[in-house]
Amino acid sequence: MADKTAKLTFGDTELELPMYSPTVGPDVIDISKLYAQGKVFTFDPGFTSTAACDSTITYIDGGKGELLHRGYPIDQLAEKSHYLEVCYLLLYGDLPSAAELEEFESLVTNHTMIHEQMMFLFRGFRRDAHPMAIMNGVVGAMSAFYHDSTDIHDAHQREVASIRMIAKMPTIAAMAYKFTIGQPFVYPRNDLDYASNFLRMCFSVPCEDYQVNPILSRAMDRIFTLHADHEQNASTSTVRLASSSGANPFACIAAGIACLWGPAHGGANQACLEMLQEIGTVDRIPEYIARAKDKNDPFRLMGFGHRVYKNFDPRATVMKKSADEVLDLLGVENNPTLQVAKELEKQALADPYFAEKKLFPNVDFYSGIILNAMGFPTSMFTPIFALSRTVGWISQWKEMIADPKMKIGRPRQLYLGEPMRDYVDIEKR
Ligand code: CMC
Repeated sequence: MADKTAKLTFGDTELELPMYSPTVGPDVIDISKLYAQGKVFTFDPGFTSTAACDSTITYIDGGKGELLHRGYPIDQLAEKSHYLEVCYLLLYGDLPSAAELEEFESLVTNHTMIHEQMMFLFRGFRRDAHPMAIMNGVVGAMSAFYHDSTDIHDAHQREVASIRMIAKMPTIAAMAYKFTIGQPFVYPRNDLDYASNFLRMCFSVPCEDYQVNPILSRAMDRIFTLHADHEQNASTSTVRLASSSGANPFACIAAGIACLWGPAHGGANQACLEMLQEIGTVDRIPEYIARAKDKNDPFRLMGFGHRVYKNFDPRATVMKKSADEVLDLLGVENNPTLQVAKELEKQALADPYFAEKKLFPNVDFYSGIILNAMGFPTSMFTPIFALSRTVGWISQWKEMIADPKMKIGRPRQLYLGEPMRDYVDIEKR
């Protein structure tokens, strides 16, 4: 596979390291034998220059603002495809035929219910628990309910675990929501499509059924699609690392959920809307922009900036269009939060600080606005991201397990602590 080499010289050592060329993107220097051959480690906190695996699933060109799933651009998928078709594409590598899609959709649809015993788990949480905390616990607990799909060395069991998670995640997220607002759980309905079923499970009550508006269900489906995968981001790398020890699939996806929750990652959609609400009125925007630029203030403009996208986030472009459609439908153009969002975006984009640092609105800037308009509380934003990203985590997990080169993930460190010293008895300290 190596078609070039790179020379590395330090002290008296000169090493020739293999280099690989990807289908698209920058070349990669293979340092896996560096310690064995040169007795040195590399140092890359935050993995800004380190490829931890090879993958055929998703490609991002942050400079061009390009996101491809199995080669297909995200804007085309968001426009022409739908979430379950994108799930198939991510999982199996190609777009399905009509018959394959029908079979896949029927398989997912027929696994939407959760084990009835799991209801008691929900009831063990406090009513004021964050739905992400509940999801984290319930998804981890799936390992205790679905014993016949935890053997990662059995390809059939891996497949069953994958379908179960994709099918049950909306049910779990909706139940977490219903529990926190004190309403009865709503069971899934298999005559509805994936997004409509989720909306109904969130908003229907026994005394009044919820009629799903097709424009809202399309917008919901697009939010799922835009979040489906994003190559080796923090939560996906967490899933890969957890799985590399051979841990069971449900526990690994729960680890991904835990990582996604942080405000620098999936928690940014909640943090962004809360920030817009805190700003409150357009006249306070300059104060918040000044705080974001102040090095002595930890405040950052949530929903701005991205580790990889340094031009624009292609998901944000689609999301912005979708936000306009939804807000138009719901007639909430005069909503104060939306006005703050629009003005904040305008002022930040015109500010040289954000231009120089290449900070643009990311997907989370607009998704929160749509979800808020649909009636979701901010606490549900990250659970919705988690349910959408489940297929990405699973696709990457399946790819890793099936790879004969798989090794347990075990980073090294630059140790700056004390060298060896003798224990001092307590009376002598
Ligand atoms: N507001 C103000 N300044 C910022 C921001 C921001 N949102 N983001 C980055 N900067 C500054 C940062 O202070 C730094 O300045 P300097 O070079 O002077 O020290 C420079 O821009 C580079 O930032 P960084 O932290 O080194 O960049 P990173 O690649 O490590 O961080 C990020 C990426 C997404 C964590 C960061 O931009 C951020 O915290 N954004 C706000 C949170 C957010 O919206 N996250 C959602 C990301 S998209 C969804 C997802 O992937 O989960």
